[in-house]
Amino acid sequence: MNGITYTERWKQADRLEDILPEVWTALREKVDRMIVQLGDKSPHVAKDDGIYDDMRLDWWTSGFWPGILWIMHEMTGEARYKDAAWGWDEKLEQKMGMDNNFHHDVGFQFLPTAVIKYKLTQDADARRRGLQAANFLAGRFNLKGSFLRAWNQEKTGWSIVDSSMNLSLLFWAAEEIGDPRFDHIGRAHADTVAGKFIREDGSVNHILSFDPQTGELIESLGGQGAGPDSAWSRGAAWALHGMANTYRYTGDVQYLHAAQRVAHYFLACLPEDAVPHWDFRPEGGLEGEPRDTSAASCAASGLLELAEALPGAEGQLYAQAARRILLSLTRSYATWDLPVHEAILLEGTGHKPAGQNVNVSLIYGDYYYVEALAKLMGWKTRIF
Ligand code: GLY
Repeated sequence: MNGITYTERWKQADRLEDILPEVWTALREKVDRMIVQLGDKSPHVAKDDGIYDDMRLDWWTSGFWPGILWIMHEMTGEARYKDAAWGWDEKLEQKMGMDNNFHHDVGFQFLPTAVIKYKLTQDADARRRGLQAANFLAGRFNLKGSFLRAWNQEKTGWSIVDSSMNLSLLFWAAEEIGDPRFDHIGRAHADTVAGKFIREDGSVNHILSFDPQTGELIESLGGQGAGPDSAWSRGAAWALHGMANTYRYTGDVQYLHAAQRVAHYFLACLPEDAVPHWDFRPEGGLEGEPRDTSAASCAASGLLELAEALPGAEGQLYAQAARRILLSLTRSYATWDLPVHEAILLEGTGHKPAGQNVNVSLIYGDYYYVEALAKLMGWKTRIF
């Protein structure tokens, strides 16, 4: 390449399409290095030293690294990715059988492990594990309030927008065993997301607190956003991608429109380089506020779902927006030139109000970056 590195060349690229095959090759090489670097770790956060931590298995992020491996396996046909991914759903099941803190995020954990494994290999144990997780998630449904309960220690009436992404587990189970109960619960929670979490302007609430006895909505809480009326960018990404997935499973256009409403708000709020700040309207303005690359990659993948749902010019607008975000992540927020760094993306923000994991690498940011690029490379199986 005449002494010019990939990354120098990418800095000059205006269109992701022009560099996509070589970015994909570099990403494969990166994942190959990660297999060696990560070993048996369950990665969640990498801070300044670039070394991923080893988080406990019941933490909500334990599915993302195996999810990257399963996508790579399907895209390449190479067994080593499958070999590295194979045991994760069994480990999660073992954790489920002992003292643990699993909650509504079993979708994030079992979709990229058990469910994708079953889809790709027809492994009967993986299917059983996926269905068990779906049963567990369905059991968190509050009938009066029509919502899935979020966490365990917090109030029983709390529901959070992140659950939008876990609904695919219910829709998959409904199709897999032909039992519409899972579909009913998925749609009922999705209605609450579309009608109560997503605001008129397309921004979203993070936490809604309901009376668990009567189902009455009590209040909105800031959660991981800047405040009850602010606009947490990753929450918007969860809603955008989650509602687009819900449309794919149900064919009900109200979910498509909900995803579009969030997408329009998200895109309108992006800064010039298309990578969002952690909240779109923090008190005091955006000056000096950190970015969140995980919101960027998750939203990009959700925008590609919208593009699939809407063939023609309208869909192409969403695909173009996704490519713009991914080009910026590729050129300015990735670790290509840092071979000892164990993550793919830099500058994620986990929980700014709690002062946790600000300006770090986050495994879910990495996962959705891989997922989105795989979609652009023609990957058709879906995890979420
Ligand atoms: N689901 C937790 C988060 O987005 O940080």
